[in-house]
Amino acid sequence: MSFPKGFLWGGAVAANQWEGGWQEGGRGPALTDVTTGGTVDTPRLITYIDKDGKHGTLTRGQKLPEGAHYAVLDEYHYPNHDAVDGYHHYKEDIALFGEMGFKQFRMSISWSRLYPKGIENEPNKEGIEFYRDMFREMHKHGIEPLVTIWHFDTPLYLEEELGDWKNRELIDHFVRFANTCFKEFKGLVHNWLTFNEINNTIQFLDMGGANLPDQAYQDAYQHLHHQFVASAKAVQIGHAIDPTNKIGCMICGITWYPGTCDPKDILANRHAWEKNIFYCGDVQCRGEYGTYAKRLWKEHNVKLDIKDEDYEDLKRGTVDMYTFSYYMSQLVTTHEVKEKVGGNFSAGAKNEYLKYSDWGWATDADGLQYYLEMIYDRYHKPLMVVENGLGAYDTVEADGSIHDPFRIEYYRLHIEAMNRAIENGVDVIGYTTWGCIDVVSAGTGEMRKRYGFIYVDMDDEGKGSMARSRKDSFFWYKKVIASNGEDLSD
Ligand code: BG6
Repeated sequence: MSFPKGFLWGGAVAANQWEGGWQEGGRGPALTDVTTGGTVDTPRLITYIDKDGKHGTLTRGQKLPEGAHYAVLDEYHYPNHDAVDGYHHYKEDIALFGEMGFKQFRMSISWSRLYPKGIENEPNKEGIEFYRDMFREMHKHGIEPLVTIWHFDTPLYLEEELGDWKNRELIDHFVRFANTCFKEFKGLVHNWLTFNEINNTIQFLDMGGANLPDQAYQDAYQHLHHQFVASAKAVQIGHAIDPTNKIGCMICGITWYPGTCDPKDILANRHAWEKNIFYCGDVQCRGEYGTYAKRLWKEHNVKLDIKDEDYEDLKRGTVDMYTFSYYMSQLVTTHEVKEKVGGNFSAGAKNEYLKYSDWGWATDADGLQYYLEMIYDRYHKPLMVVENGLGAYDTVEADGSIHDPFRIEYYRLHIEAMNRAIENGVDVIGYTTWGCIDVVSAGTGEMRKRYGFIYVDMDDEGKGSMARSRKDSFFWYKKVIASNGEDLSD
């Protein structure tokens, strides 16, 4: 096995799941700050106070009642407030990443740390200093930052007062934020991603077979159009500020398979790829909507508001690389589903050839090879796997050690699959595992769903010392990086 010279091994986190410090350094609130913890079976709740002062909760996608305001309520625990306290531990964490030999560390910038409401004309200087220091620290350890500009954390004010991304005004607010990032961190950061898992907006709609009204689709496609334009404008600005910047899209990569060989399933599978995967990738890599987009809009009577100048922006703002997360594959079928798989962020027919995690996610390394080969053939742009990993329970032994052979096995299979794709000619330039240090789960808000090489002493109720310790996988990944992927043995 060999990986290209200079292959960018590393790990990834997101501000809202790692940083904490939600009210420190002038930061404003984001939606994740009014989102409670959940479990694999019970959804996370978004909390509010209604116009009569009564407490209420919503689940993802539900609308805030007229006159209500998002609010932090005493009776709930909000895991993202402190997350795993990266805000105060970043030097220690980066040193541990350096010890593993990371070539790059993917993190995100909290929008409300730079623009507390999102609408200010000038950024919060303390926020800028915080990230500058973090980037300098990474360079000290020979680690290149890979920065996601937006990772699920629009300032709460923009959500509540402007109606989130449905509102075209968000484009300008985002562009101001992105411009600040490119300008202030010039020379410290060279690799950027605009929107994390931008396609989730579509994927979430159909999850669990929900039968939503056409308005939900109208809103979702309009929301996405605004994000596409915002991303394309950011790419143009990023290139103008520093032509050496490499800027990528970030897609939630799920490999879809037909559930049977019935031609109807084969067609449904093609359509699932178009809707869930290609719709966003095509706009961001090719600068225009795919031919099938009209069919998708028609299915739900969607009438998109697209300005003439948007077509130009989309064309001029195509990305330099295609990056994606990969955790699992999924089946699509037109037939009755006998055995269903549940769990957060995965639903539908069970694939009898695969094993499922405790959270219902299918482990399928071949699916990663399939995805890499399929996408490279479509766009011919460099690819990076910027999230991959297994959310699992860890046990701390009496002597403090943590044995996680299941995690090592998961990574070994996926690194081998990535290598097969490279040998078949795919230009893969980097790999950052998800949650290289344990973080709050995005889907469930749990701490017990752990991905890290580094264990963090923190539980689902917010109890723990936040102390960091090395799992067995820490030493294994260190060896993998040192051998540039050649030594995957235990
Ligand atoms: C991706 C996100 O969806 O998957 C991450 O980009 C997230 O933010 C990761 O944490 C794993 O999902 P979960 O729900 O296990 O945290």
